[in-house]
Amino acid sequence: MNDSTIILGIESSCDDTSAAVIQGSKILSNIAANQEIHNEYGGVVPELASRAHQQNIIPVVQKSLNQAKIQQKDISAIAFTRGPGLLGSLLVGTSFAKSLAMSLNVPLIEVNHLQAHILAHFIEDANPEPPKFPFLCLTVSGGHTMIVLVKDYFKMEILGKTIDDAAGEAFDKIGKILGLDYPAGPIIDRLAKEGNENAFQFSKPKLEQYNYSFSGIKTSVLYFIQKEVKKNPHFIQEHLNDLCASVQKTIIDTLMNKLEKAAKDLGIKEVAIAGGVSANSALRQAMHTKAEELGWNIYIPKFEYTTDNAAMIAMVAQLKYERGLFADLSISASARYDMEQDFS
Ligand code: KG4
Ligand code: ZN
Repeated sequence: MNDSTIILGIESSCDDTSAAVIQGSKILSNIAANQEIHNEYGGVVPELASRAHQQNIIPVVQKSLNQAKIQQKDISAIAFTRGPGLLGSLLVGTSFAKSLAMSLNVPLIEVNHLQAHILAHFIEDANPEPPKFPFLCLTVSGGHTMIVLVKDYFKMEILGKTIDDAAGEAFDKIGKILGLDYPAGPIIDRLAKEGNENAFQFSKPKLEQYNYSFSGIKTSVLYFIQKEVKKNPHFIQEHLNDLCASVQKTIIDTLMNKLEKAAKDLGIKEVAIAGGVSANSALRQAMHTKAEELGWNIYIPKFEYTTDNAAMIAMVAQLKYERGLFADLSISASARYDMEQDFS
């Protein structure tokens, strides 16, 4: 990789507007404006998200250039998230990136958000060592849950995925049942630390091969809560930490069982996690336990590279830049994009 190439990356797929500057594989700045407007609605409201992106994008980009101490003339290419995500949100980042690339007369680079979560592992300070191909990556976010076999930077195969809710979505929806704010994942993680993970048992899905299902866990929690609240209206408040710990254990055990099966079946010991849910402390701990038990070499990204961020977009862009994989200025955003649908 050419260590002098400077790229500006833009991420606007969901509810965070983010911009980052990368030089080689070193992140010079990684700025995000979180949209708190959605907290009170218990989820992301697409129209409000698009509007907030439009308000945030210029200040966020400006801040990332300032923090990186670079000027527009130093930029070699502009990268943006093309998909998957909310169309209105993606359009803001896409249009901005296209206009800036055109005005600076530099190449434009499209990035697959899912590939970016995985390739974030190649950012200089993401890990002490980057993963070695082929590796498995449990990719867990608010919109996706899958086990990916990463054969090379742009050769990825999905071995299994969720047939309904994503793991992050399960955290968020169960959090809503428990009366927690959106996004509930980090709140459940925090409260679970004070709770007993074996206090309550929730049904675990049984699916073939490496596929996941999380809607059953959510329903099982819902019915259990409804039954208990009828007997004791204060049930949730009195048992909140135990509920969070038990829910978290159910989700993390489910994720890890399939990951372990895939690693065993394929004989792979290079195992990574990526995406927003990879910030979860119980998942991180479970990976360390497996490393000790099974001799896995594990890759757990730094917190700032787990939830949506533009640093990962800029990282993918560097890999594409050196391969000459540029986008045409007529390109448009794409809400539904699969991992294997490579745009390189
Ligand atoms: O990757 P991400 O920022 O956005 C998507 O691409 O979807 O993931 C967001 C998801 C949310 O569902 C959020 O609740 C979850 O990641 N999340 C967590 C934690 N931090 C974020 N879930 C469990 N524990 C956490 N510490
Ligand atoms: Zn994401």
